[in-house]
Amino acid sequence: MTSTRYRLLELLNTNGNNYISGQKLSEELNISRSAIWKHMKDLEKDGYVIEGVRRKGYRIVQSPDKVSENTIRWGLGTDWLGKNVIHKEVADSTQSVAHKEALHGAPHGTVIVADEQTKGKGRMNRQWHSASNKGIWMSIILRPNMNPGSAPQLTLMTAVAIAEALSEIISVKPKIKWPNDILIHHKKTAGILTEMQAEQDCIKYVVIGIGINVNQTEADFPSELKNFKATSIRLETDVYFHVKDIIQKILLRLEQVYDAYMQTDFTHIKTKWEHYGYKIGEDIRIKTLRHSFNATFLGIAADGALLAQMENNETKKIYSGEIEW
Ligand code: BTN
Repeated sequence: MTSTRYRLLELLNTNGNNYISGQKLSEELNISRSAIWKHMKDLEKDGYVIEGVRRKGYRIVQSPDKVSENTIRWGLGTDWLGKNVIHKEVADSTQSVAHKEALHGAPHGTVIVADEQTKGKGRMNRQWHSASNKGIWMSIILRPNMNPGSAPQLTLMTAVAIAEALSEIISVKPKIKWPNDILIHHKKTAGILTEMQAEQDCIKYVVIGIGINVNQTEADFPSELKNFKATSIRLETDVYFHVKDIIQKILLRLEQVYDAYMQTDFTHIKTKWEHYGYKIGEDIRIKTLRHSFNATFLGIAADGALLAQMENNETKKIYSGEIEW
């Protein structure tokens, strides 16, 4: 999309539901009224519904329900996150695309999003089922100035951003199952996969992969996933959502929590995480690489570790693993 058309969309967006006159648009963009009209026609071809009223001007009544670099960027309220968007109709995995882009110098805040992934990756080498246009399959490149040891905190931070964004659009409170599964009605709706390239004391870049099941119906899930308690936002709420709208909400929340985290420390993320924490105060079974054991889930520590009260009453910090269903 030309930068003029992008600016035009921005102006229409800033004006919200109000009309903006052709005269004003032509002055702001420094192009003729007939050029404005031609851009409007092109936008309509992209799926925008634009209302033009004599003596009042133009306004957007509906934006397209499709994900593209433009539809994500248009109306995105962020300062730096998602200013560079790469959209693929099909990718093997947005994680691999992100790694390639990061190695070629893609800037902090680059977002890679695909309509479909043919080799979606989950944690612990699991597959991530990523059907075409049914959910959010997105990876974000960050270049934080922090110690590699603190990187798991970025996963917890992302889980908070997703939980907050979902809370804005659904009436049930999402829960975060440590460390990074987002649940609705106790079933998994979203997952996060954080990967990084680092040297001893410094992170070169981090790729945060976000997978969210948005509009799948029962029939869209392969049978093996049903045992993993997989669900979609639509299945749990009976509402069809525009994927693009949720992406924008998540990016905005993520930028806010990231900036606050960088300016202060992990404390406020810990508080927010615990607000959404699943089974805090309850007995859980924890699975680490080598063991499984029972404990009471006390919350998360100041560094993001899971705080477990063991059967002998000792408190233990767990840095990697997961809570069993
Ligand atoms: C999990 O196991 O819960 C993490 C799932 C992460 C899936 C996302 S989808 C976008 C990105 N690309 C991938 O291949 N994986 C992540």
